[in-house]
Amino acid sequence: MIFDFKDIKEEVKKDLKEISNSRELKQFSDKYLGNKGKVANIFKRIKDTSQDKRKKIGEEANLLKNDIVKIISMETRKMEAKKKKEAIKKERIDITRPGKKLEQGHLSPLTLVQREVEEIFQSMGFSIEEGPELEKEWYNFDALNIPKNHPARDLWDTFWVKTGKDSKEHPLLRTHTSPVQARYMEKHHPPFKIIVPGKCFRHESTDASHEIQFYQVEGLIVDKNISVSNFSAIIEEFLKRFFKSKDIEIRLKPDYFPFTEPSFEVSVRRGKGEWVELMGAGMVHPNVFKAVGYVQPPSKSGWQGFAFGVGLDRLAMVKYKINDIRLFNSGDLRFLNQF
Ligand code: PHE
Repeated sequence: MIFDFKDIKEEVKKDLKEISNSRELKQFSDKYLGNKGKVANIFKRIKDTSQDKRKKIGEEANLLKNDIVKIISMETRKMEAKKKKEAIKKERIDITRPGKKLEQGHLSPLTLVQREVEEIFQSMGFSIEEGPELEKEWYNFDALNIPKNHPARDLWDTFWVKTGKDSKEHPLLRTHTSPVQARYMEKHHPPFKIIVPGKCFRHESTDASHEIQFYQVEGLIVDKNISVSNFSAIIEEFLKRFFKSKDIEIRLKPDYFPFTEPSFEVSVRRGKGEWVELMGAGMVHPNVFKAVGYVQPPSKSGWQGFAFGVGLDRLAMVKYKINDIRLFNSGDLRFLNQF
């Protein structure tokens, strides 16, 4: 019986040179170490040899087997190292390549204006309050001296909200920030100075100066000896700071609001420019004080107040020379990216 160890070793050497990937390595392993492989074949045949040769051939076969196992594990390690190197090469990050710039968002012009307005009024001692956008009829109208069927309700086109057919509640989307006057006064005793920025809604057709959704800032001061001249002084100071100009003039014209008496329409002019109507204002009506439970008559308690409501969108439009209010909600980046 011939045991061709030498030939097998030669063959192993030759095969080894041909291996270039893990599939070929597996074939190599099967060829020598597999169940039907060359080494297994030797072991199978050992029992047919004479007793005296068995031991030696067995030892030699084991050595051959160990050699091949070693070769395979070395080749496997080599192949893995090569793979890793290639992967690293492929994934290498070129730190000198120009980066991708992260797009950063920015504040909407309305937010910028709101923050500026808040800052100016805060520096004059006002606190900032808030109220709900979905409002009760009472606060939006009745408490503000606008009872049901009062023709003044026509001044505010309203979105009414249905809340189930048996409900007696008729909430609405507030048409101005004035309801927060009543909400605040119910819970606080004078003296105080507040502003109330917030979103308002009106049921009307839109054009360059009307939106169904817009922002207002309400102002309310209640104190003793408050007069219209205090109001003019505060508003003028506010506008000077807001427009960063000393060349600001305001004009008060008589107007009508059910919750103020007397009432004014306030316009502003920069330099010798056009007059722009900015806000409604006036001395708080005694019926509003009554509705929130202040001592009656007001002359007895001595509290007086003035209130104003300014369109935030209006302020932004005058400041940035924007000619269409609808741009604020358009989502048009050509517009928004200018701020
Ligand atoms: N709420 C009024 C409006 O929206 C403005 C206003 C506020 C008038 C406060 C007087 C006092 O038209």
